[in-house]
Parts: sequence; C-alpha cells; structure tokens
Amino acid sequence: MFVHTLVPLLFSSALALPTLTTRTTQASTELCGDYDYIILQDAPWIVYNMLYNADEIVGTQCTNYGEMTTSANGTKEVICSSVTDIEYVESTNNVPKGYSFVGLTQNLETKISAIDSIPAEYSWTRTNTTPFKGNICFDFMTNDIKGDSTSSSSHELMLWLQYEGGQLPIGWTDGAVATIDDLFGTSWTLYEGVNDDSGITVSTLMPETQFEGVFEGDLKEWLLAMVELGRFTEGTYVNVGNAGTEFFYGNSVMNSTLGLQINLD
Ligand SMILES: *[C@@H]1O[C@H](CO)[C@@H](O)[C@H](O)[C@H]1NC(C)=O
Ligand SMILES: *[C@@H]1O[C@H](CO)[C@@H](O)[C@H](O)[C@H]1NC(C)=O
Repeated sequence: MFVHTLVPLLFSSALALPTLTTRTTQASTELCGDYDYIILQDAPWIVYNMLYNADEIVGTQCTNYGEMTTSANGTKEVICSSVTDIEYVESTNNVPKGYSFVGLTQNLETKISAIDSIPAEYSWTRTNTTPFKGNICFDFMTNDIKGDSTSSSSHELMLWLQYEGGQLPIGWTDGAVATIDDLFGTSWTLYEGVNDDSGITVSTLMPETQFEGVFEGDLKEWLLAMVELGRFTEGTYVNVGNAGTEFFYGNSVMNSTLGLQINLD
C-alpha cells in the first residue's frame, strides 16, 4: 500500500503517511528480508528488519511483529521479536550486521523545545543458545535542519540499555568524553566518534549498571542531558527515534514489548 524508497535511517522523514480512518487488525508478520518493514496502522510505529550489512551475514535474521496491546492505563504497546541466527565469522565478528527495531512515525521533525515528553516503556527477554554479540538500545537522530537525518550535520544519539559479547561504541578507543550522573536510575559514560560510513557523529551513553529486561523513563530527559553537555540546543529537531537491537553474531531470540511516543507541548 505504501511504496517508498527508503534510505537507511531516513525512514521517518520519507514517510508521508496518509491519515488512516479504517481500523483493521494487522496480522503478525515475519520480516526476514534485508530492508523489510511493516508500518503499523493506528499506531505511531514502523517495525523494521534493517540488515545494512546483509552481505556479511552467514545465516538469517528476522524481526517479527506480533501484536499491539494496550496496558491497563491505556498506554499502547507493540510486541515484537528479533530472531538472530548468524554464524560467528572471524573476519566479520566486529561488523554490526544490522538493526532490528521499532521506529517512531509520528510527531518527529519537532524541536526539543516543542516536545512535552517522550514516555518509553521497554521490556524484553533474550534467550541465547550460542554466544551472542549485540545490544538493546534507543537510537535517536537530531539535526538543526528539520527532517535531515543523513547529512553529516546530523547527530546520532544512542542510549545502550544492555549489551553483551564485547560490543563497543564508536569512539571507545578515544576514551570517555563525559559522564552523566543519575539519569534513569544509573550513571552513564559518554563515548563519541564519527561513523565512517555515514560521516555522522554518534554519541553513545553506556550505563554503569545495565538494564536487565526493563526500562521505563521519559526520553526527553536524555535529550536535555545532551543539551546540558552542549551537544546541541533545545532548538534542534528530533528527526528519528527508535528502539531495538543491534546484532553481530549468535543464535538468539529477543522478545520485547515497547511503548514509545512523542507527546508535543
Ligand atoms: C502505564 O503502565 C505501564 C505498565 O504497564 C507503566 O510502565 C507506565 O508507567 C504507565 N504509564 C502511566 C502514564 O501511568
Ligand atoms: C518469544 O516469542 C515467541 C513468539 O511469540 C514465543 O514462541 C517464545 O516462547 C518467546 N520466548 C520467550 C523466552 O518468551
């Protein structure tokens, strides 16, 4: 129904969604292709199996959309799983193969100052049958230019909740550039560097205490912490926002339930 040419990580701004007035229940779907996705109706999300290094994958990776639920207090949530079956290959064990995620499709391209809150509830289980390398994170992109998430003036922000197998953030070898005390119940160390492929600066926050299957918080606090560190101002635009898992190798199933939305002022 929607046919778009999606540039990786550009999906948000590429999506000009028509207003949907029909309510239909979308069936569970297995997304196993390199750039397979499903745009959820009557919800602010796209579910995406983004295999940006598909050529390096020996095995398979699927992102499965399960269903949407509404919690007792009316918060809408999406249930998904990421099923990774990727062989460890010595020469590519440090190459991330892709990103399995739920991305926002509504209220993006908004200045931080115009955002009231970004409530997030994320719970997950991961079951590994072989060693797995990868993480669970939030990934947002900002830019002083509305809608621009590909040029080098973009800023990619990562909040790692959990990681294993020795995954390291971009900029790790340069050492920590800052710390943030007491955000979402832990302290965080900031690593920064330029992604050689995109030319975009990536700022990754690593938690002192990893989250073990449950995260709850207002992600606007994260953006404001980055403003406080001088990375951009509240006048910058939030162009992309999503939650998901990066993977390098391993045989692993991650089941997750996510509530995430941007509330405007
Ligand atoms: C709604 O309930 C969920 C748990 O199901 C909780 O995490 C969240 O904070 C609640 N939201 C509000 C606005 O009370
Ligand atoms: C993960 O989800 C799948 C599909 O819904 C289910 O069959 C499986 O039991 C779940 N695994 C765990 C550990 O919850």
